[in-house]
Amino acid sequence: MNAIALSRKEYQNLKQLVYEASGINLHEGKLELLKSKLAKRMRFTGKSFKEYLSFLKADEKEIIEFIDTVTTNHSFFFRENNSIEMILTDFNSRPDKKTHRFKIWCAACSTGDEPYSLAVQFKSLGLNFEILATDISHSVLATAVRGIYRNDKIKNVPKPMLHNYFQRGSGKYQGYIRVKKEIIDHVRFQKFNLINDPAPSHKFDAVLCRNVMIYFDHDTSEKVVNKLYETILPRGYFAIGNAESLMNLNHRFKSVPKVPSLYKK
Ligand SMILES: C[S@@+](CC[C@H](N)C(=O)[O-])C[C@H]1O[C@@H](n2cnc3c(N)ncnc32)[C@H](O)[C@@H]1O
Repeated sequence: MNAIALSRKEYQNLKQLVYEASGINLHEGKLELLKSKLAKRMRFTGKSFKEYLSFLKADEKEIIEFIDTVTTNHSFFFRENNSIEMILTDFNSRPDKKTHRFKIWCAACSTGDEPYSLAVQFKSLGLNFEILATDISHSVLATAVRGIYRNDKIKNVPKPMLHNYFQRGSGKYQGYIRVKKEIIDHVRFQKFNLINDPAPSHKFDAVLCRNVMIYFDHDTSEKVVNKLYETILPRGYFAIGNAESLMNLNHRFKSVPKVPSLYKK
């Protein structure tokens, strides 16, 4: 694919547009990717750079599709499961665990690996739960709803859970697995932009916002963290990615000892 020439000003315009729509702060390393994506979309729509930029500004779906190609949606089952195990151990020791319906929000769920990993662990413990799983990207949500994954995505899933909650594909699905319906039914997928969308009005026992704030700048991360704080029940949990930190942000969470990526309200 032929990439196009992009002046510094044009790159800055595009970078600003992506930032305003998603909070994602593109770094120079994404320039080449951006150029080839632009060339492809300009050819497809028959528009000049200027025309395409106005189109991008006006069409939310196009900008999100565009953002999709410059961010990483990388995820896998049981990724960074230490904080999830900690949350589950606590939930499972609660005296009201038989009557309480645990509500969890995966706020940047990508292709669904994260919410389904949570769901199989809740299910194994016999807890009553529901998971809201959201992302800015339509394409990852479409994959999530299907619940079909390449085998390499599930290599961290413990054998008994693999056996109970997944079906191995055959024929044209050789090398793939499908999440069973009894798990899928616990998860509601929805589009949600952490930057622009108002937080849900109901409250959650735990909110996970993992491996997305690495793309945000300080002020954007601070706004997101404080918006999510409001959606968490008293003593509820907030989990971020292992490579992320709330250290320089103004926030009201308390750290959970020994699990640096886990916080409590
Ligand atoms: C690397 S994935 C993380 C997936 C999962 N949480 C994990 O830790 O494996 C980051 C996800 O954040 C999503 N994302 C980026 N900007 C977003 C925004 N402003 N609002 C909601 N989701 C966003 C991307 O579409 C992508 O699917």
